[in-house]
Amino acid sequence: MSELLQPQATALEVPQEQGLRPKTLSEYIGQESIKKNLDIFISAARKRKDPLEHVLLYGSAGLGKTTLAHVIAHEMNANIRVTSGPAIEKSGDLAAILSSLQEGDILFVDEIHRLNRNIEEVLYPAMEDFALDIIIGKGPSAKTIRLALPPFTLIGATTKISSLSSPLRDRFGNILHLDFYNHEDITKIITRSSKILSIPIQNDAAEAVASRSRRTPRVANRLLKRVRDMAQVHDKENIDNQTVEDTMKILGIDLLGLDAIDRLLLRTIIEKYKGGPVGLGTLSAATGEEIRTIEEVYEPYLLQLGFLNRTPKGREVTHMAREHLGLGGQKALL
Ligand code: ADE
Repeated sequence: MSELLQPQATALEVPQEQGLRPKTLSEYIGQESIKKNLDIFISAARKRKDPLEHVLLYGSAGLGKTTLAHVIAHEMNANIRVTSGPAIEKSGDLAAILSSLQEGDILFVDEIHRLNRNIEEVLYPAMEDFALDIIIGKGPSAKTIRLALPPFTLIGATTKISSLSSPLRDRFGNILHLDFYNHEDITKIITRSSKILSIPIQNDAAEAVASRSRRTPRVANRLLKRVRDMAQVHDKENIDNQTVEDTMKILGIDLLGLDAIDRLLLRTIIEKYKGGPVGLGTLSAATGEEIRTIEEVYEPYLLQLGFLNRTPKGREVTHMAREHLGLGGQKALL
């Protein structure tokens, strides 16, 4: 397998996380409408013995785009090759990947919005006609030759569908939006993961972890592992509420799942910019956090909580955020 195709473990994704991932649609908790849609889409393709049409998955980080891509591959009985937009630096890199695909393979491109536009153009004929156009030579004597590719399925994942060009977006047969999970589903995911990790968790403790999980499975599983560490250090046979509270105190995570950086962002807007609006670049310089981290890691949940508003002039903090931080006349909930 070429290096470009190696699954890339991010800082948030240790190998054990892969063991917690559901492998089939029936094991997958939450995202009910996506599951129904995929079930029909996959059953129909299997009946026709056709590869699945191209799928675009979009939604915030940690909601399960990569997991779903693997689930789709499993359900289709297909090989999956994994790469990402930033890993593909030249159009030749993409051409090499495409020409090594076998019939029915799934090519998963994470962060597909970060593919450079010239490279993206190699994808258009590949997606539409299963063809690879190769330009030979330069200038007026340049020639294009077309190579046939085996039918394959592209699964693209993105946190920013608005950054995708419309020709690329239009070539996906199925566009699925992953939403934040509800409390009940996150609690079920935590209980399922605790069984896989062989550390029982009491119901109220699972709920307490769920409340702090930002409605995001990746966060839920990460917190569960920290809580498990605490239980093991204190020789507890199962995870109780006290263990959860002690762990969250050490991690600086409050009842809604906000951490020190969330609070820094909100406080900076309130204290330095009178509650906003303030531009993302200014906020990044004032807090020392990268624009992309603010945009992709912190902001989606703060927007979802109704703590931040996006306006044409920048980000604004809401009354609810002030109250939560105790900067609006009420006591902080930490
Ligand atoms: N682990 C991470 N995401 C999950 C999900 N949606 N269902 C079950 N387990 C998970």
